[in-house]
Order: sequence, then structure tokens, then C-alpha cells
Amino acid sequence: MKGRASIHRDFSIAQIDDRLYSAFIEHMGRAIYSGIYEPDHPTANADGFRNEVLDLVRNLKIPAIRYPGGNFVSAYKWEDGVGPKEDRPVRLDLAWRSKETNQVGINEFARWAKDAEIEMMLAVNLGTRGIEEARNFVEYCNHPSGTYWSDLRRSHGVEDPYGVNMWCLGNEMDGPWQIGHMEAKEYGRLADETSKAVKAFGKGIETVVCGSSNDQMPTYPDWERQVLEECYENVDYISLHKYFGNNSRNSLNYFAKVEETGRYIQSIAGVIDYVKAKKRAKNDIYICFDEWNVWYHNREEDSKNWHSWDWPEAPALLEEDYNLEDAIFVGGLLNEFIRRSDRVKIACIAQLVNVIAPIRTERGGKAWATSIYYPYQFASLYGRGTALNVSVDCPRYDEAVAQDVNYLDVAAVLAPDGKSITVFAINRSPDEAMELDLALHGFDNLKLIDHQVMGGDSSLARVANTCAEPNKVTPRKGDRLAVGEGALKGELPAFSYSMIRLSVG
Ligand code: AHR
Repeated sequence: MKGRASIHRDFSIAQIDDRLYSAFIEHMGRAIYSGIYEPDHPTANADGFRNEVLDLVRNLKIPAIRYPGGNFVSAYKWEDGVGPKEDRPVRLDLAWRSKETNQVGINEFARWAKDAEIEMMLAVNLGTRGIEEARNFVEYCNHPSGTYWSDLRRSHGVEDPYGVNMWCLGNEMDGPWQIGHMEAKEYGRLADETSKAVKAFGKGIETVVCGSSNDQMPTYPDWERQVLEECYENVDYISLHKYFGNNSRNSLNYFAKVEETGRYIQSIAGVIDYVKAKKRAKNDIYICFDEWNVWYHNREEDSKNWHSWDWPEAPALLEEDYNLEDAIFVGGLLNEFIRRSDRVKIACIAQLVNVIAPIRTERGGKAWATSIYYPYQFASLYGRGTALNVSVDCPRYDEAVAQDVNYLDVAAVLAPDGKSITVFAINRSPDEAMELDLALHGFDNLKLIDHQVMGGDSSLARVANTCAEPNKVTPRKGDRLAVGEGALKGELPAFSYSMIRLSVG
């Protein structure tokens, strides 16, 4: 099949916020304990963090990381995780029916984030707690010295404040499963007041208010309207969450969920605009898509387990063996974020290690990259700069989830120095190669720097990277594309994801 596309240097969508490639990690399952932290592991550093995991994380160049939850945060006492480790209480984590030892708390996590070269984005508990505890937490983290909470931090060996600028106001407060779940107006009021208190600590502080837990919630999208009507002028972002799966084992329908996500973003952008107009507000609010990923392989089984198990410590939970099809899907979703970078400024892959994650570990053993690690890495490394408009003309298909879906999914980014373009291209067709003709207008001296490709054979869709075979699904060098006469031409294999870099004059 033939796929024609074109871009122009002057036709841009937006300046991409680097934080579009952020991540999320929660005190859940083995994300923290035996994921990033395992003091007895042969690779552990002096702080007890696994060095080989840190290397895998660093190679992703993650700009920001949301912590400590997730559902966990809604019953969490951050004070349990500071001070001498031997004095910290063991608590029951009500969200995941697990035991929390509190051996990792904010100070340990901050050291890990510094080593990983990632900025922290912290969530406060608005489930069982409120403004008072949130302001204390911000004071502990951000105030230099001379007050109760800042001096407490110093007494814990942390002289300099962390200067955390991104604060999430609770988690999924629309969800009946959330400890402390609220009605929209009630939550909107609390978020407004909490945001004011959090922002009182300094000018650079930004806050994220909870939107719907997903677009299937019965209260969506009226939740967003009601919440924003209460707090529009005092917050900076509204969060969106969405997890994806392919239970029907229909790749084309699965890939079309990228379009569905586009509609979700568009609807919330509409609600933001509506509330802004209604309130005659001057400020803009953007979307923080702070939980997204594939979550389905073991979902039912996991849920049965955690609802019945007897409060284990760091149980294996949501450990997905991602396959080729998932990698292509994740590449497509990242393309959608790039295309909507005018409204989506922050997005967090959920989560980072072991729990629905691009990185997996064995307790006491190996760490490896799952298939989705690679499209996420390519987007994070090369998806920074200016998002360019791409017009696409190719055959389309209809599925239950969306109609008129392009077989060819493309996003293009002009690097900050204007000297290179990265094209992320997916051929969604399970059985036909795509003859690509991508016209690049307004660019001189085009040269192909690199083409990395994943896939090419839909019979391998369900092949995954596992501990025993960690390199089954990895990128390889493509050799079927060439540049000439202002265009990139050649073949995109069937059922494939490509990252193509071009230098421009
Ligand atoms: O990421 C797993 C869970 O999914 C998070 O704790 C919660 O916010 C969401 O429902």
C-alpha cells in the first residue's frame, strides 16, 4: 500500500515541553522494593539502589517523575518515611493490600532521582489527609531552614531544600476505589484551597488537579467541568489517566485506540476552554497525562490476587511481559502526545519499574528492558523540540473503537537547534508493507542519519522480552529508506514502528 505524507518547516503545532516524556513510580508491588531499591542486591549502591536499574533509567533521559502514588498516596503518611530507618513504622497499604515498610521515603527517593538525573513531581494525600499535611510536606521539601519542618529535614541530614516545583493534588479522586473518594465539587474546593497553600511556598510552583481516572468513568467529562469551575484560576494542569489493552486480540482495533485517546484529549481541551471562557479567566490550563500505558496481560488475575492476599510485602503485581504489538501501540500513543503537544504538556508513562513498566527486575537477579522501553526511549531522546504538522494520505480502516483510521501513523519533530528532524512512523497494517513518500518542504541538504525499526512480521506480534530472553523484541537498523529531491522514500515493513532521523541544512 502507498502512504503519502508531507511536512513543512513553518507549519508547526507547538513547542514540545520536555516533560512530555516523564514517568510515574508508586509504592506498589515491586516498583520500589526489589525494583529500584534492593540493598542486598549485588549491584546495590551505598544507598541501597540497584545500579544496573539506574543505568537503564538514565538511558531513558526521563525529565520528571511522579511519586509516591497513585492509589497508594491516598492513605499515605509521608512522615512515616523520614528519619532513622529503624524507627519507621510498618503500615498497611490499603490500596494494594500490601505491607509498607517505609524503608524508602522522600529523602531516599530524592537521592535516587538525583542519581537518575530526574526532577521530582510529588503527589500529596488528599484522600485521608488535607491542606495541613500537604503544606507540611511542601515545607519539609522546599523551605531552606529555620522552621519546624525544614529543620526536621535538616536533622535528617538534608541541608538543602529540594525545590520541588510540580505538585499533584491527590490521585484519581473521582474513583469510588480511591480511599477518600469525593464528589467533584467537594474535591474541586479542596484542590483549590490546597493549591493556594502549596503555591504560597514560591513563585515557580505548579499544581496538577485530578481529572477523570479514564474516559469511561460515568462522571466523565462533567467531573472536569465541575472541578475546574472550583479551582481554574489556582491550578496549572488537569490530569488525564488511561490504560490500554487488547483483550479481543485484534491489532488494528488496538492501534485505533490511539485515535480514541486523541478524542479524549480533545474533549478535555474543550472543557478547559469552556471553563476558561465562563470564568473570564486570564490563565491557561494544560493537560498532564500523568498515567498512561498498556495494562491488560495479567489484569484480571492480578486483581483477584490483591483483593484476597494477606498483606504481603512488595508482592509481584502488574508485572507485564510486553510484546511487539504493545511496543507499536506505545509508539503510536507517543505520536499522539506529540501531535497534541499544544495541549498536553506533561505525560508520565505508568509505571517505570516492574509494575506495568518498561523496566523489569528479578529479586536478587537480572534487570531487563521490555519491548515498550524502546519507543519510549526514542521519543524521549529525539522527540524534543518543535512538533510539526504532518498531513497524511493513505488507505484507512474502520474498527469498533474508531473509524477512518490511517494505516500510516506519523509524527515529526524538529530538533531545538533546527538541524535535524525525527520522524516516528508506524505502519499499522498486519500484512502489507507501506511505500512511504514523505515530502519535506522548507528544508535543504536532507541526509538520513539513522533509521531504527521494530517489527515487520505480525506473526511475531505476541513475542515478548522476558528475563530468560530479554532481547527478543529490540530495534534494528532499517535499510529500506532513502532521501532524495526533498523527500524521504522507501518501505515501512508491515506491522512496524520506525524512528527515522534526518539532518537538515
Ligand atoms: O498505576 C496503577 C494504578 O492505576 C494507580 O495507582 C492508580 O492511580 C491507577 O488507577
